[in-house]
Amino acid sequence: MTLDRAGRRPLYEQIKEAIAAAIESGGLPPLTKLPPTRTLARQLGVDRVTVVTAYNELAAEGYISAHVGRGSFVLDRATSSWAAPPGLRAPADWTAHNLNREMMRMARRPDIISFAPGMPATDLLPVDAYRLALNRVLRRDGPEVLQYGLVEGYPPLLTAIAAELAAMGIEVEPGQLLITSGTEQALALVLRTLLHPGDTVLIEQPTYALVLDVLAGSGVAVQPVPCDENGVIPGALPDLIARCQPRLLYLTPTFQNPTGACMPLARRQQLLDVAARHDLLVLEDDVYAHLWLDAAPPPSLRALDRTDHVIYTNGYSKCLLPGARIGYLVAPAHLHSLLATAHQTLDVSASELHQRALEMYLREGRFAGHLVRLRSAYRQRRQAMLESLAAAMPAGAAWTRPGGGLYCWLQLPLDGPSATTVYLHALDLGVAFAPGHLSFPPGTLETGGSHHLRLNFTLHPPATIATGILRLARAWQQAAGLRG
Ligand SMILES: Cc1ncc(COP(=O)(O)O)c(C=O)c1O
Repeated sequence: MTLDRAGRRPLYEQIKEAIAAAIESGGLPPLTKLPPTRTLARQLGVDRVTVVTAYNELAAEGYISAHVGRGSFVLDRATSSWAAPPGLRAPADWTAHNLNREMMRMARRPDIISFAPGMPATDLLPVDAYRLALNRVLRRDGPEVLQYGLVEGYPPLLTAIAAELAAMGIEVEPGQLLITSGTEQALALVLRTLLHPGDTVLIEQPTYALVLDVLAGSGVAVQPVPCDENGVIPGALPDLIARCQPRLLYLTPTFQNPTGACMPLARRQQLLDVAARHDLLVLEDDVYAHLWLDAAPPPSLRALDRTDHVIYTNGYSKCLLPGARIGYLVAPAHLHSLLATAHQTLDVSASELHQRALEMYLREGRFAGHLVRLRSAYRQRRQAMLESLAAAMPAGAAWTRPGGGLYCWLQLPLDGPSATTVYLHALDLGVAFAPGHLSFPPGTLETGGSHHLRLNFTLHPPATIATGILRLARAWQQAAGLRG
């Protein structure tokens, strides 16, 4: 094995790849015992941590099994069932959807402090106010509440949403709206209706993981757009548009998932200029708009759009009632009936009961007060997470200070173990997070997703956050071979 010590690729990665290649070519057949980490480190003239990290990565990817005391053996990849994390077979299985299911399950395990799911804090959901709203509509409307609803949505809720949007600078008639079962359905509806095999869609990199899953296998090419800490760089678009002739650009300009980036006003205007000049359709996902913590974000693209190039999606999952599954979209007039027809083939309507109860809740004027309480609790939780990370994370780790949304986006030291390797140790120690690679299109790991992780800072009270981050730091140390 020869190592390129002058190159930029970390040594552990070179070791890992050399061993993986030998296993794949049959040079190291199943059940071959690998040299102990100490011995190989001495032979190669590297630190033992480097070899431990390489072995951990190989174990995480199902190449070898590592038993303390017995050593590391090459696995028969045709027959081995790769063990951890529970419920998943191999990293190839870590698509966003099944990892998401796993994360939801994990979040309910009492022994795990999970920072993984993209959900708002359960302890702050408005149980009493919503119970009142549900009771009121059941009493007022009787069995109609339990009937099918209209495809477009419950008309009084359409009116209430139009009023809320007007307060956010978005002028729409209720008839331009379409209510869906959650924002994810609105996104899937647009993507599946407007895109065809052979089309290209532009996305942020990293992006909302489930959108990648919606597009997977659809024959639609996914083209990342260069982004910085302020989101998509509009100047990069004209070249990409000329090269790929994309059908649309999907983005979350406000408190993006996973990075938390919030696009400044001037950049929003530049982006809309490019869209108008090149006739580019923009799919704007605004689910985190209400969750600002320091200052209200700039107006949405849709509010600034003067040329009708923006399809706008939003919903009530992140800021109010994730389980009620109420999302919506606003589309340019010529697309509305196409999308409404497609919606009918997905599910006739979003839940009539929840649409009516939500409308009652909004009519009673409770939403604004709820948001104030949420922001105040989330500020404390953000503070707890930032302080805990500063106290516990290894040198070389870096993370964002989100101005809103739900997430801290953390980068582990690039010369240490990957996020998926740390994940396995983290589960053992009772903490979970969302590995960053899920937010990158397949095949783009070299851009950095392998060492990123997403931490939802809103889910737990400050003391639990502090304990969880300590466990995470310990998991990193274990994965790096620094403690047993
Ligand atoms: C950017 C983004 N859009 C949409 C959604 C889905 O929201 P909903 O629960 O309303 O389907 C999420 C949830 O994580 C998200 O992060």
